[in-house]
Amino acid sequence: MQSRRLRKLRNRLAVAVAVALALGALAGHATAASLNATGAWALAPVGHAPTPPMGWNSWNAFGVNVNEARVMGAARALVADGLAKAGYRYVNIDDGWWLQRRASDGRMIIRTSLFPSAAVGGAGLTSFRPFTDKLHAMGLEAGIYSDLGRNVCSQAWSPDNPNLPVGNRAEREVGLYGHVTQDISLYFKDWGFDYIKVDACGIAHYGANGAGGKQGKFRVFPPLMVDQNTAQSNIPAVRALYARVRDALRAVRPDGRFVLSLCNWGAANVRAWGKDVGTMWRTSTDIQANWSRMLHSFDSVSTREMYSGPGRWNDPDMLEVGNGDFDQHHLLQARSHFSLWAIEDAPLLIGYDLRKAPQSIIDILGAPEVIAVNQDPAGNQGVLEYTSSDYQIIVKTLSRRGEKAVALFNRTDEAAKIELNSAHLKMVADAPITVRDLWARRDLGSFTGSRVFTVRPHEVLMLKVSGKPLLASGYYLSEMTGRINVADDGVLVPEEDPTIHRPLDPYTGSTGSDGTRPVYAGWGDPRADSTPYDDTLRIANVSYRYGIGALANSRLQVQAEGGFTRFSAQVGIDDTTRGRAAPVRFEVYGDGKLLAVSRPMHFNEAAAPLRADVAGVKVVELIARQIGTDQGAVVVTWANAALE
Ligand code: GAL
Repeated sequence: MQSRRLRKLRNRLAVAVAVALALGALAGHATAASLNATGAWALAPVGHAPTPPMGWNSWNAFGVNVNEARVMGAARALVADGLAKAGYRYVNIDDGWWLQRRASDGRMIIRTSLFPSAAVGGAGLTSFRPFTDKLHAMGLEAGIYSDLGRNVCSQAWSPDNPNLPVGNRAEREVGLYGHVTQDISLYFKDWGFDYIKVDACGIAHYGANGAGGKQGKFRVFPPLMVDQNTAQSNIPAVRALYARVRDALRAVRPDGRFVLSLCNWGAANVRAWGKDVGTMWRTSTDIQANWSRMLHSFDSVSTREMYSGPGRWNDPDMLEVGNGDFDQHHLLQARSHFSLWAIEDAPLLIGYDLRKAPQSIIDILGAPEVIAVNQDPAGNQGVLEYTSSDYQIIVKTLSRRGEKAVALFNRTDEAAKIELNSAHLKMVADAPITVRDLWARRDLGSFTGSRVFTVRPHEVLMLKVSGKPLLASGYYLSEMTGRINVADDGVLVPEEDPTIHRPLDPYTGSTGSDGTRPVYAGWGDPRADSTPYDDTLRIANVSYRYGIGALANSRLQVQAEGGFTRFSAQVGIDDTTRGRAAPVRFEVYGDGKLLAVSRPMHFNEAAAPLRADVAGVKVVELIARQIGTDQGAVVVTWANAALE
């Protein structure tokens, strides 16, 4: 009797564990079972964007009222104003170009009244080839727009627009759903596009009660994704749909010459998996040309430094420089917005009608030394070295040793004195640190230790500094995030990131049923020089300025490429841990071989040193392995983690 009950219990347990593992695997989360060092760099580039893509897009300037004259006007201005030379290459058509999907064979038809050069032949034969040829001849590249679902954003949200797709229900289904191979081949092979932005209204807003569904004009699409509601989003399904687009692109462009821009507004936890599926991925809902919305977009990337790197970019949305709060009467704000995008390695996509641009706006968009920060080949996103609700210090490690870009950001309405010190910069305190103002393009002398800067309201002071690095050789891992891949984040259930500035909801105001709480998963993901919950790194009441904070059961890959000889860190359970019961073992692998391991570390136990010889190692893997279960998430710290 006793043993039968025990057996039953054991069987039930085994089933429960199997289900939990399967669920974890489905959601893309680390489970202890999947936590193996692979020895191989797990990120294959999606398309080609070794530095953040730069270009122009029609949406912020024209909304759905896009046409050929407007787009070509922008293209000509890019060339004439020197912006093309400064790096802006992509000219991207957004929502609004379509007429319909041809009934006979599903081929997409362009609205030639908007794009006259697309009328290339008999009835129903249209092609963007003349248009992309023109752009290519100007030394530019061409971008197009589609949607993951059957129907697109403008059909849901701009029902009165006269230029919406026409025809019967099937003919008006202009999105990629069910047509991925056909459309991608048409756009990239026949029409010659180089870049595609893939929106997500079709999988989100065409449920029976969605903005598209309620019209009764479209096939109902039960939502796979619910904006602002991670739990109600089918994360694996959304990811799989984007992965199909990626695979179709790789098939038509085997040389990898394309950009895939994921536009699902930071929902469905894309902030964690975009790197595996797209070249860039939106981290928030739409930016608008006002200060509060800009802060919201900025905050949605500023804690995501571990996810971006060469070929994979966090996208806080397109630029509003030139528009609204960032127009020629607000040049300081425009420079601030541009500086923040630059230091965060955001794609720089101009969203302004360049045909009317005053020189002051061109000068901002073309600022060579600020653009150089964004396009630095190391691809290390800026890291928040100091943050409060009022001021922030963002530091980006540049590829030339000893050089950093620094943004001193005053978020308030009053002038501020912000003190920058050598510790923010990981530089030695008693050697001179030289400073250059990247907007004024002027050297500001040098300091030792620290220096106070006066920063005007809403200003970002954008500096480049050079000094003597604290480490005699190599880097702290938090200085080389462009070489890190978060292979397993250790997150069991995606949680909403509470650090993001909440503006008034632009669609529902203060009265909408959704309230004004923008919520994106990502809370608990690994961070540089911070715990995963945005706290100071601290082990047994000793705080550490530098290091990597993560949850247990995480695996980080570092692309060392044989360039280092030694890994070192002090490891332990962070004082901010939610679970205090389970110990954690810290393991360091080199190309799949175990190089060093800590004893099981417990809460409130002093940090233990961990060192490994990594000479010749291509991929270093750091695994924090939780031993046993815990009621809460276990937070770990790799303090002072460095490769020298
Ligand atoms: C939104 C997207 C915008 C723009 C718009 C077009 O979903 O975030 O950037 O593309 O759709 O309707």
